[in-house]
Amino acid sequence: MAYRVSSFSQYEQDYQFSVENPEAFWEDIASNYSWIRKWDKTLEWNFDEPKVEWFKGAKLNITENCIDRHLASKANQTAILWEPNDPKERFKKITYQDLHQQVCRFANVLKRNGVGKGDRVCLYMPMIPELAIAVLATARIGAIHSVVFAGFSAQSLADRINDATCKMVITADGLYRGAKEIPLKNIVDEAVEDCECVERVLVIERTAWNTEMQAGRDVWYHDEVQHVGDECPAEPMDAEDPLFILYTSGSTGKPKGVVHTCGGYMVYAGYSFQNVFQYDPGDTYWCTADIGWITGHTYIVYGPLLNGATTLMFEGVPTYPDAGRFWQVCDKHHVNQFYTAPTAIRALMACGDEHVLPYSLNSLRVIGTVGEPINEEAWNWYNVHIGKEKCPIVDTWWQTETGGIMISSLGEYGPQKAAHAGFPLPGIQPVLLDEKGNEIQENEKEGYLAVKFPWPSMIRTTWGDHERCKKVYFSHYNGYYFTGDGAKRDAKGLYRIIGRVDDVINVSGHRFGTAEIENAINQNIHVAESAVVGYPHDIKGQGIYAYVILRKPVDDTDFISAEIIETVKEEIGAIAKPDKIQIVSGLPKTRSGKIMRRILRKVAEGEPDKLGDISTLLDPNVVAEIVKGAQ
Ligand code: PRX
Repeated sequence: MAYRVSSFSQYEQDYQFSVENPEAFWEDIASNYSWIRKWDKTLEWNFDEPKVEWFKGAKLNITENCIDRHLASKANQTAILWEPNDPKERFKKITYQDLHQQVCRFANVLKRNGVGKGDRVCLYMPMIPELAIAVLATARIGAIHSVVFAGFSAQSLADRINDATCKMVITADGLYRGAKEIPLKNIVDEAVEDCECVERVLVIERTAWNTEMQAGRDVWYHDEVQHVGDECPAEPMDAEDPLFILYTSGSTGKPKGVVHTCGGYMVYAGYSFQNVFQYDPGDTYWCTADIGWITGHTYIVYGPLLNGATTLMFEGVPTYPDAGRFWQVCDKHHVNQFYTAPTAIRALMACGDEHVLPYSLNSLRVIGTVGEPINEEAWNWYNVHIGKEKCPIVDTWWQTETGGIMISSLGEYGPQKAAHAGFPLPGIQPVLLDEKGNEIQENEKEGYLAVKFPWPSMIRTTWGDHERCKKVYFSHYNGYYFTGDGAKRDAKGLYRIIGRVDDVINVSGHRFGTAEIENAINQNIHVAESAVVGYPHDIKGQGIYAYVILRKPVDDTDFISAEIIETVKEEIGAIAKPDKIQIVSGLPKTRSGKIMRRILRKVAEGEPDKLGDISTLLDPNVVAEIVKGAQ
């Protein structure tokens, strides 16, 4: 089996083989990595418990595969190319040799501060090289990283630290993001007040702001690193030892810690990166995500480094200092593969073509999208203005839980069709299910997207609560991993992802449960009850629409709405703030008290004439009021 697929017919052959002989297929792919000890059994699984074990008995360390094994041939090649927020600040190039040294030193600092194998470490950091280095250093010593996006509030951070009982938090004094400056350490201080488990806060200097350090708890990285050496042996890990936890939202109120393990995640991250992006030695690859999300884990850090690639890491935002920044960076660093989110494409498209025109973009070879469905207009704009109609677009469908890209063309290999992710990668067996859980065999049909056979980087459990993993992903349809998405297959069998079929809203590619946002809104003292739904939003894909019942009527609803937004910012973070708030006196409920979200969704979508049957409601009159007051 070739590690790299290099034609569509080869894809078809490999796919066929991978379905007929999954174990032989993955054994072959896995043999491209370095293992301290080979596995005894390739796969053991059942989707009932669920229990999925890949490469059982094997020992490895993912950082040896990301770094050490490239030193013989690529020591002086750039591993991480870092572009700062401010284009006037100098970029940084970290070679594989430098990366080895810096990861070892960082790992030694972790050890010196009491972190060992199996301990959880929370990373709440800016997009600076130290974040990637900290991720790798944690993995090097066998500790488990839990990266929390540095846009979440102190409350969200504290919840995640406590859920995983993290011993250490790694942060920075502050963060630059576009024109914003955020005092990260202050947020950590506030969070950690409620976290008894935290023994150490390790602080990287980024902004050189005056920072208060709590004696006995807080230490500066630049002080600690003075005391350690350049070598740190990689801890031998079992293939099924946890590598990281990453929290993600679901349809219940509390985000869950998705657990990925060392061996399978490594094999799939590396293989999918190589094939989807068709990376050639010497290329510069850029994924614009933040390492706080799964995209950054798999396709900024692990996937590229496993392949000895040069991965560009960007601290800033697409519109700073202007809406040409992405394209300026592509030209400046001769980027060959560019991977971003539909929301960024739509936002930049709306800013006007004049921001693209000054740049040649002629180094680009493959361009990609991830995180949410891409509409045809944005796909076409991306194709014409960025790809210049010569770059294949890889529309990659996957999830935090899948660990890596599941459905996508492999660079130019695979049909190009706007808004269609395409065919599954080798080794991936998606199905469409009907309401009853029967597989839909025909094409040109829509159904619930599920996966019927394990793949190496799939979720193993939800941290501290295996039952929840079973309930959320494996109980809807027996014998299948359920994705929560609806999808359609076209006449040729290409998959088009329609969107979530559960109570999850995808805002700018970020997932939030409606219950999670409602819980946050309900923390506001003026609020009695709330119901949140998603609605189509030109830039964000989906916007957040909140219907709120107040404890007491008020005259100034604008003031109350602003207060509610502040509460959501405090509880979750600014990324989850409602776009629209409608104060209502009641919600449409069935006689058993269940909120009829279908009605609220239709109103939010601006289709109040399509409410359907409302006769079963406890109080049908409330609907007329909601329709009248809709924004
Ligand atoms: O609804 C799908 C959407 O994003 C969800 C997963 O979100 P998250 O775990 O945060 O991971 C995002 C990055 C991998 C999916 O259930 N989604 C992701 N990629 C696509 C997509 N929807 C349509 N097309 C995609 N390419």
